[in-house]
Amino acid sequence: MNYNKIFIKINKELSKTEDLGEVATYIPELGNVDSTKFGVHLTTINHKHYQFGDAEEKFSIQSIAKVLSLVLAYKQEGEKLWERVGVEPSGTSFNSLFQLEFNKGIPRNPLINSGALVISDILVSHLKNPKDDFIAFVRSISGNPNIDYCSRIAESEKITGHRNAALINLMKSFGNIKNDIDVVLDFYFNLCSIEMTCRELSQTFLFLADYGVNPFTKERVISISKSKRVNAIMQTCGFYDEAGEFTFKVGLPGKSGVGGGIVAILPKKYSIAVWSPRLNKKGNSSKGIKFLELFTTETEISIF
Ligand code: DON
Repeated sequence: MNYNKIFIKINKELSKTEDLGEVATYIPELGNVDSTKFGVHLTTINHKHYQFGDAEEKFSIQSIAKVLSLVLAYKQEGEKLWERVGVEPSGTSFNSLFQLEFNKGIPRNPLINSGALVISDILVSHLKNPKDDFIAFVRSISGNPNIDYCSRIAESEKITGHRNAALINLMKSFGNIKNDIDVVLDFYFNLCSIEMTCRELSQTFLFLADYGVNPFTKERVISISKSKRVNAIMQTCGFYDEAGEFTFKVGLPGKSGVGGGIVAILPKKYSIAVWSPRLNKKGNSSKGIKFLELFTTETEISIF
């Protein structure tokens, strides 16, 4: 399939779209991004590459990194993981507090902030040098030794991260955080600060399109069963209170971040990353979702 041709066609169609929302500013550093940026990159499991626009420019992947921390924690902890975090869509915004008290400090799923904080706590418990070991893991699955955290973004979020502080304190009061709160928050803010280009992001997620096998080294990252479950969680929880709509419109497992990135996979076919910093009211990239909706409509292939 000539994906490049399809990218050009869709982009033409989307250039007429108005009201794309606003760039996230609650993390002040994210507000400095050029809101007109737009990139897309698709990598097939046979290593063919297709791209459009600003696909080679780094951006903050933010919550997309929660999938990678989930994968590593799931590898380390196994099924016991699900005693501390659920697998149900939350139907609430990514940083919501109110279900957490009702559920006695057990987050609904690992992709909302509370869930990702518990996952961070698990990794802090398991890893010798949590930040170094985690970035080494991301570099290995991306096949790229240059992927890194952005200290500017992590610091910026630390200063304004009061909601995450509230979430982690509430969970600590229920006994669902084992380590020092500041250490876990520092790990979490760094996790979210990782920068990638669309090309790097699509390559990093390719293992989830190939049932858990690293497409570069051919080594297994996670079992087929765990890969299925991670994809299922992306499908049902990857877009917070817009997860149903993303499934309805796009029909692929995916994950968004407030940096404006979205990654989605089609099993045994490809991984696609899009980036457009302006967000809709649910905190997901407006143009990114519209692009992917038109993409699966045009190609007539999704998981459904
Ligand atoms: O914790 C936060 O609020 C951010 N570091 C990540 C939020 C995020 O990316 C939500 N995604 N759409």
